This record gives sequence, C-alpha cells and structure tokens, in this order.
Amino acid sequence: MRNNVSITTKMMDHMKSAGRLAGKVAIVTGASSGIGEATAKLFAEEGAQVVVGARRAAELNHLVDEIEACGGKAVALPGDVCDEAYARALVHLAETTFGGLDIAFNNAGTIGGMGPTIEVSAASFVETVTTNLVAAFLGAKCQLPAMLRRGAGSLIFTSSIAGHTVGFPGVASYSASKSGLIGLTQSLAAEFGPRNIRVNAILPGAVDTPMYRQMNATAEAQGFIANLHALKRVSSPEELARAVLYLASDDASFMTGAAMIVDGGTSINRT
Ligand SMILES: NC(=O)c1ccc[n+]([C@@H]2O[C@H](COP(=O)([O-])OP(=O)(O)OC[C@H]3O[C@@H](n4cnc5c(N)ncnc54)[C@H](O)[C@@H]3O)[C@@H](O)[C@H]2O)c1
Repeated sequence: MRNNVSITTKMMDHMKSAGRLAGKVAIVTGASSGIGEATAKLFAEEGAQVVVGARRAAELNHLVDEIEACGGKAVALPGDVCDEAYARALVHLAETTFGGLDIAFNNAGTIGGMGPTIEVSAASFVETVTTNLVAAFLGAKCQLPAMLRRGAGSLIFTSSIAGHTVGFPGVASYSASKSGLIGLTQSLAAEFGPRNIRVNAILPGAVDTPMYRQMNATAEAQGFIANLHALKRVSSPEELARAVLYLASDDASFMTGAAMIVDGGTSINRT
C-alpha cells in the first residue's frame, strides 16, 4: 500500500524557506512505507533535508524521486537497522551530504513474535526486541555524537500504546520491545537534556499501514480494531506524521522524555 498524499512543488517551495524544519537535517528509518514514508515526505515539505533508511531500496528510491520532483532534498541508504555499521553510515551520509544532523526519527519496526506466548521461541522474541529496541539504541548511539557536534537535536522513537497503556494478548515480544523504548527515551532525555538534545517517544494506536493490514487482513478484524478507538477509526500515516513533526520541531522545544500518545482514544476507551 503506497500512501497517496502528494507533495506539490508550490508547497515545497514555500516550506523550504518558511517551513517548520527549514534548514534542518533529518534521518527517518522505516521510510519505505507507512508512518516513516509519510513522515519523510512531511519533513521534506517542511523544509528539512532528509536521509531515508529502510531495507527496500526500490521503495526508498521512489520516495527520494518523489521528494526531489517537488524541489525537496532527500537521499536514500538501504540497510538493516540492526546493524550498527548501517546506523553509523546513515549519520555519515547526513553529515557529508547535508552538513550535519538535527533530527532522527528511529521508526523502523516489526510485529514479530506474535501468538500464544508459551509457543513463542526465544529466537523470535530476541529478533523482535533486536529490531524494535536494540536497533533504536544503536541508532541513537550513532546519532547523538552528530547532534552534540551541532549543539542541539531532537530524537524520536516509535513506541506503541501496546508498550504502555494497553495490554494486548499474544504480542508479548512486541509489547516488551515497545515498553523498552519508553525507558530508553526517558534515560536518554535525562542524560542529554543538559546538552540541548530532546528525546521523545510517540505511541500510536492503530495506523493504516502495511504492518496493520498484514495483522488485520479482513474487514471484520479491521472493524474490531477501529472500534477499540474512541474515534471509531484507525489513524492514517499522515496523522501520525504530523505528531512526529511536532516533536521534531521547535514547537516542542520544552518537551523531552515524553511518551506522547496519539491513539484516537484507545487508551481511555477500554471498558
Ligand atoms: N501500524 C500500526 O498500527 C502501528 C502502531 C503502533 C506502532 N507502530 C510502529 O510504527 C513503526 C512503523 O510501522 P508502520 O506501521 O509504518 O509499518 P510498515 O510495515 O509500513 O513500516 C515498517 C518499516 O520498518 C522497516 N523495517 C523493518 N525492519 C527493519 C530493519 N531490520 N531494518 C530496516 N528497516 C526495517 C520496513 O522496511 C518499513 O519501512 C514501527 O515501529 C511499528 O512498530 C505501528
């Protein structure tokens, strides 16, 4: 599923000079689809120069073409976020191509290790935690020195309400990894706040992305999930992207260590 929000050249011209991220350089991981793709586009529309990462080269190249066709600036580097050398290469690319790094949206993730917990293998638990949590740590570890060189920065992780406010059955690995991201957020926020780097997590409810459609293939399943939300629908990737933009921008200049819930009221709608 490709997201169908298009960038216009006029929008891009305006945003490059006056956008909320004008002059900023950002890394977005998991940018080949879903929330990451929508956020990379929005960041570019708002004037950021964007380094996009994920595993699928063709999708990343298509995204770069789309951003550049409208006058934005982006560069792609395909790879696996679990590999520290890849995390380092993304930062190197940001610094050599665009001159620094201001924003990192560590968003790549997987919903592995699902099912009855007593049947989940240790290997699949570790694989999920590695992709969702260890990779975020590796990303931050490589991005923070670049932000320190810049004298400021905004790091954002994609957690989930499944790791905080709502206990869903059968997703122990995923929930554990997403809870871990909140601890990571809080510790990094405390450690790097004195050096002008803000660190926050975004906690989506259900978002209509390929991951969501893979988990909820039938209309019945999608109806059930939508009904969990007070708004009685799931989010679009673009709605999430706007919340990420807020955390990335100076509008959130006094916000750090936060687990920001953007869940259409799922957390308050449990009876
Ligand atoms: N869709 C939802 O309902 C929902 C809800 C809460 C949180 N999230 C989180 O949002 C984030 C984005 O997911 P999405 O819904 O946009 O799904 P998606 O499947 O569209 O995107 C996932 C992205 O992560 C990338 N990715 C996965 N493993 C990777 C790896 N090892 N190396 C590099 N890239 C990798 C994929 O290539 C893809 O670009 C994930 O962290 C997910 O857990 C999603």
